[in-house]
Amino acid sequence: MKVTVIGTGYVGLVAGACLAETGNDVICADIDSRKIEGLKRGELPIFEPGLGPLVDSNLAAERLQFTTDIASSVRASNIIFIAVGTPPDEDGSADLQHVLAVAKSIGQAMEGEKVVCTKSTVPVGTANKVRDAIMAETTHPVHVCSNPEFLKEGAAVTDFMKPDRVIIGVDSDHAGGVLTELYSPFVRTGNAIHIMDIAAAEITKYAANAMLATRISFMNSIAQLCEETGADVGMVRRGLGSDGRIGSAFLFPGAGYGGSCFPKDVKALIRTMRELGSDASILEAVEAVNEKQKYLLINRVKARFGDDLKGRHFAVWGLAFKPNTDDMREAPSLVTIRGLREAGATVSAHDPVAMEEAKRIFGSEVQFHRDNYDALSGAEALIVHTEWLPYRRPDFSRMKGLLKAPIIFDGRNLYPPETLESLGFEYYSIGRAPTQPAAGRTNP
Ligand SMILES: NC(=O)c1ccc[n+]([C@@H]2O[C@H](COP(=O)([O-])OP(=O)(O)OC[C@H]3O[C@@H](n4cnc5c(N)ncnc54)[C@H](O)[C@@H]3O)[C@@H](O)[C@H]2O)c1
Repeated sequence: MKVTVIGTGYVGLVAGACLAETGNDVICADIDSRKIEGLKRGELPIFEPGLGPLVDSNLAAERLQFTTDIASSVRASNIIFIAVGTPPDEDGSADLQHVLAVAKSIGQAMEGEKVVCTKSTVPVGTANKVRDAIMAETTHPVHVCSNPEFLKEGAAVTDFMKPDRVIIGVDSDHAGGVLTELYSPFVRTGNAIHIMDIAAAEITKYAANAMLATRISFMNSIAQLCEETGADVGMVRRGLGSDGRIGSAFLFPGAGYGGSCFPKDVKALIRTMRELGSDASILEAVEAVNEKQKYLLINRVKARFGDDLKGRHFAVWGLAFKPNTDDMREAPSLVTIRGLREAGATVSAHDPVAMEEAKRIFGSEVQFHRDNYDALSGAEALIVHTEWLPYRRPDFSRMKGLLKAPIIFDGRNLYPPETLESLGFEYYSIGRAPTQPAAGRTNP
């Protein structure tokens, strides 16, 4: 099949490469000429496990092409995906300007019947706006569909190749048939393709992200209760998650959810619900808990060292909002590092892949180290933000030798408190009692 994907970011590039891998002729189009020129040379603009070889092999097989010529890419294919960004507008609603600009370009370029799918996360009702924008420019028939994407950064290729489910919102049998054929190679083990009406598909995507964000904020609230009562949130999490009705995913407490999706999608859904007169109070609470949670680590550092951190130096391990990605959008580490800097502290940091992205944000304000242990030298404490594998079982005696004092603020509960206590660390995690081997220190 001939497929064009407009918007070559995390979603568009992964979708394009995976659709090419299953034998389709795919054009990935984007207005960012630097990105497209790099991709033509086989240079990936993002870090995503397994994506490089997929792009290389499909480029070599000439099943995958990259272009900035949106009009030609529209004419060349009968299925067109819109996968451009939908960032939050000032009022929290999804900014649809890129989606609608692409829709207009599609309408202007069409010279025959097309199936046009929004893969971008868009509020309910957007497909109608996309259809209107296309039909204002053309008299050719168009089948507008909603095909929201559920891939996770860090596991995007695997998620796309083996989706739990594919959601397809259509208003014509033709579009349903075309998209079922396109997706059938990805669901051979029996996972479902759910064909539904367009509004249901648009809502399903927001409902899924809002549910996951809700679980995180819920667990962060429970973690707070654990701290107040001396219970261990890890035990509660295991007890809770082993209930088959609940399941264990997304129940880890932490320093708040971040990334390019949950924060903006929860905001946008709240906005849509308010506009339509629905009660958004559950999601308002989810968001409020998360906003507070993002400040947990910086507040703990200040409670321990005082509000004025001038002359103090801290190390941060993990910058990306989660492991296996270089995405720093809305990463809780940003809140901690900004808080440290504003209070006068200096910061050294390490991340296995997100340091280039972090340099773009912080420039010379943060010292970046290629080796995670080098970042510890002379620091008053280590703050762990992302659960990258190399941080999970570090050499604690080496860390002790490098840190000014053996203090760890762990936003991911990576270490057993008893072990750290026995090694002489002052250790603060989330939803678990702090360990305080050094006498006379006060809890944050
Ligand atoms: N990142 C994720 O994990 C994820 C997962 C599921 C859904 N989504 C949704 O998918 C959409 C895309 O997200 P992303 O993370 O890939 O975004 P991104 O910012 O990484 O990529 C968007 C791309 O669109 C391009 N673009 C913008 N305007 C354009 C135009 N007029 N014509 C052509 N290209 C244009 C940009 O240059 C950029 O390369 C969003 O709606 C997002 O909410 C993202």
